[in-house]
Amino acid sequence: MNSEQLQAVRRHFIEYANGYIDRVGSMRHLMELKREHCAFVARNCRELAASCGWCPADIRTAEALGFLHDVGRFPQLAEYGTFMDAKSIDHGERGWQAIRESGLLDEVEPDLRDAILSGVRHHNAHIVPGNLSAPHYRWIELIRDADRLDIYRIILDALQGNQLGEHSGLALDLPLDGNPCPALIEKIMQRGAPSYSDLKCVADFLLLILSWSYQMNYPATLGIMRERNIVDQIAAYMPTGLPEVGSVVFSLRKTLEEACS
Ligand SMILES: [Fe+2]
Repeated sequence: MNSEQLQAVRRHFIEYANGYIDRVGSMRHLMELKREHCAFVARNCRELAASCGWCPADIRTAEALGFLHDVGRFPQLAEYGTFMDAKSIDHGERGWQAIRESGLLDEVEPDLRDAILSGVRHHNAHIVPGNLSAPHYRWIELIRDADRLDIYRIILDALQGNQLGEHSGLALDLPLDGNPCPALIEKIMQRGAPSYSDLKCVADFLLLILSWSYQMNYPATLGIMRERNIVDQIAAYMPTGLPEVGSVVFSLRKTLEEACS
């Protein structure tokens, strides 16, 4: 993607998001947070692509994908009043549809356009389909890592501001108190992928998001996690005095160190 195309994506995204933000009343703040999230994910994409040694054109495409990945969130919130896909629509699918209809990427080379659209469409898939065009996976994997990196920022902001309980849905409305569930810890130590239905309290949720370290697609993502000190910052809000929690945190730290050595 060239610089003009990236500039057009940035402009389109801001106008698109602001169009929704100006029209809504009570949900304005949630939409503003989503606009901010997209900008941070775009930054993560650019940083990751650069760390992976991608060429300047690909770094620009990565940034564009970051801006666009969540455009489906705006109509989702406006029309259904929720960010929960299970109670409304698949926001990846909706974003894919909205970008195609906008004609925004019409000037982008078709294979690259399809790859960007694929990144938007599948960024939130529980399981990414295995039958996509091979070059699409590079972009889907990038946006999924970049998105998760920003979830750490959002959760840490809420923890540091003591606002986790006030943000409806942010930590799945789980009880703030309670020790992590032993079965969940066991699953994480075995490198299993726990699901949201395994969670009983916020400490479980924090462990689950940290366990994403084992599933990140790019080693560069682990490098960024280490630079940002994400494991230790989140661990500060967990009962690390419990030996099994301490073991998970130790193992996570080791994984990041090994990926970066
Ligand atoms: Fe999303």
